[in-house]
Amino acid sequence: MLLFWFICCKDNPCRRVKTNKAKTAFFCQECGFESPKWLGRCPSCQSWNTFTEEVISRPDEQEALWKDEDKRKPNTPVRLQDIQATEGKRIVTGDLELDRVLGGGIVPGSIVLIGGEPGIGKSTLLLQIAMNLIGQKVLYVSGEESEQQIRMRAERIPGGNDQLYVSTESNVAKVFKQVKQLKPEVLVIDSIQTLVSDFIDATAGSISQIKECAGQLQRYAKESGVPVFLIGHINKEGTIAGPKVLEHMVDTVLQFEGDRHYTHRILRAQKNRFGSASEIGIYRMETDGLRQVNNPSELLITQKDEPISGVAVAATMEGMRPMLIEVQALVSPAVYGNAQRTATGFDLRRLNMLLAVLEKRGGLAMGNKDVFLNMAGGLKVDDPAIDLAVVAALISSFEDVPIPLHYCFAAEVGLSGELRAVNRIEQRIMEADKLGFESIFIAKHHAGGLQKNKFRIEVQAFGKLEDIYQKLF
Ligand code: TYD
Ligand code: MG
Repeated sequence: MLLFWFICCKDNPCRRVKTNKAKTAFFCQECGFESPKWLGRCPSCQSWNTFTEEVISRPDEQEALWKDEDKRKPNTPVRLQDIQATEGKRIVTGDLELDRVLGGGIVPGSIVLIGGEPGIGKSTLLLQIAMNLIGQKVLYVSGEESEQQIRMRAERIPGGNDQLYVSTESNVAKVFKQVKQLKPEVLVIDSIQTLVSDFIDATAGSISQIKECAGQLQRYAKESGVPVFLIGHINKEGTIAGPKVLEHMVDTVLQFEGDRHYTHRILRAQKNRFGSASEIGIYRMETDGLRQVNNPSELLITQKDEPISGVAVAATMEGMRPMLIEVQALVSPAVYGNAQRTATGFDLRRLNMLLAVLEKRGGLAMGNKDVFLNMAGGLKVDDPAIDLAVVAALISSFEDVPIPLHYCFAAEVGLSGELRAVNRIEQRIMEADKLGFESIFIAKHHAGGLQKNKFRIEVQAFGKLEDIYQKLF
């Protein structure tokens, strides 16, 4: 026993280490899952080899950085009736798309996270908004670009806010020093992954840094009433890099998406504490910044003069907005054994299901065909009402019979080939009517509640796919 003590504990390195050792934990770099020990596979997102050790700060140091020492007092509870409702005092940015997605402007003290792939235009969007918040003092903190680069970008974008300040600071404590001095009315952080806090002994962009910096910014936003925009990078899965907690911390999560090879960009609300989470804003990336797109349908329909087989137009809803989108399909004999199925902007499993319906209910031999499906403009659509247009485009390509121009579709397709009702059918019909379409195909279930003579467009209601097939091909 004594010998054991002599060998093991004489110099007692264990105790010394214990007292000085900073607390660490292991974080999954993909999803932010926290574990006290290293794991080979993340139990939350199932990815392999993503755990790294990070120092987590000591609790007594985690104080609100933005406040002065003497003001760091605990909060006292307040009666609900005594709290002043700030709703109604939203900051209107003048950017109709953003205002709508936010639910009518920026809510004071809110914290908005904007995620998106690199190069999609997040920095451009926020700089443009900052440059157009005329009369508001804005601090734009960029850890990604130099002042000159920001200036060069600003040269391309119209806007004249002379109260826009730019900082390239990346240390959170120093950012708060600047904030205290400048007292901005809106704060923009480009990006949360470049910020670092001295309390955390990890590199910028690591999970614990992101958590800590976002936590500090959240406190600042809530206590000062200044709205904060955070730009967040996304990882290879397409979710915002950093822990899920980041999404919990903020009030609004917006996704800026689009295909870099196209000019359209969609700003989509994923979570919104102060508005609808199903709104979208549409922009076009031009050489001089982002332009708002007010009538997206006209832009998404490319087929103008001659009907081509494999093309059908769907009357979809994106958020609260009706939108007509062109669906393109190509069905061709499979040359290399296994048939290929590729869908861009549409769920591949749903495509396989629709193909199975066509095979089983319609008797169309799709099994030995390559099938390619495309949504025009690089859009991603998950409105079930697009089903009928997808099926129509597939049959049209299969039979090589074009669908007449000025026809459009809005119905969900069920497993037995029946057409199902979809929401907001009147709005869809009205949009198609407005754009000069001549005929819209919908599900029979709607027919009872619709006054067809209200519209110029011919409304054709069907119960089964078969009937539409008879009618069109
Ligand atoms: P950026 O805002 O830097 O993307 P992110 O911050 O999401 O990484 O966008 C950069 C792209 O946008 C780049 O490819 C150039 C293009 N762009 C324009 O087409 N027009 C413009 O006016 C600006 C400023 C950028
Ligand atoms: Mg950027």
